[in-house]
Amino acid sequence: MKYYVMSLFPEMIEEGMNTSILGRARKEGKIDLKAVNIRDYTLDKHQKVDDYPYGGGAGMVLEAEPVYRCYEAICSEIGKVPRVVYLTPQGEVFSQNMAKEFAKEEEIVFLCGHYEGIDERVLEEIVTDYVSVGDYVLTGGELPAMVLMDAISRLVPGVLSNEDSAENESFSDGLLEYPQYTRPPEILGRKVPDVLLSGHHENIRKWRQEQSENRTRERRPDLYESWRKENLLFKP
Ligand code: ADE
Repeated sequence: MKYYVMSLFPEMIEEGMNTSILGRARKEGKIDLKAVNIRDYTLDKHQKVDDYPYGGGAGMVLEAEPVYRCYEAICSEIGKVPRVVYLTPQGEVFSQNMAKEFAKEEEIVFLCGHYEGIDERVLEEIVTDYVSVGDYVLTGGELPAMVLMDAISRLVPGVLSNEDSAENESFSDGLLEYPQYTRPPEILGRKVPDVLLSGHHENIRKWRQEQSENRTRERRPDLYESWRKENLLFKP
């Protein structure tokens, strides 16, 4: 998987993607990342990349030209027309299912906006997917791009040390994960549930499934309803 990030703050991406699991995955070559500065592609002698909005109004708009030239440079490096994801609160809200879809790609280009937005004409020309990370407004697309890269990368084979662990957790079957415990068996006056100490694998499996279902019903009734409908399809 190779990511390209078009941004005015590529150092933010570099720093955010250099630690922990993703940092290791990059070092091991499981994922590759190139953060590209849109400003490097302006033809303006003062390196200006934004201008006032036609029609008036507050804020500045990122010009089409540097964004398009940056995109062209990436396309010629890749050698084909890539998927281009524009991070915007106006996009489809990101989900685990979308992460699974994106993980099938060989390259993904992320476009991060700032200011009041980007000239609509370059978006129409290059963007294939409009994605939001939730119904709130951030100062730029860098954090959302990192959210997507994190969720996608952990589905890339070899990125997680135990490959099973990506599947056996929240959302993989539409339910939230059951609670986890480690030693000691009692702390703060609270005990580990007996069943987990019993060594009875079938009982443990049933208990975990029950916990997942109850927890999802209580904490995320919306997810629970979708899960229930899906599961009814498989039952006579
Ligand atoms: N840019 C600003 N806010 C955003 C959001 N909620 N999702 C994606 N990109 C954004």
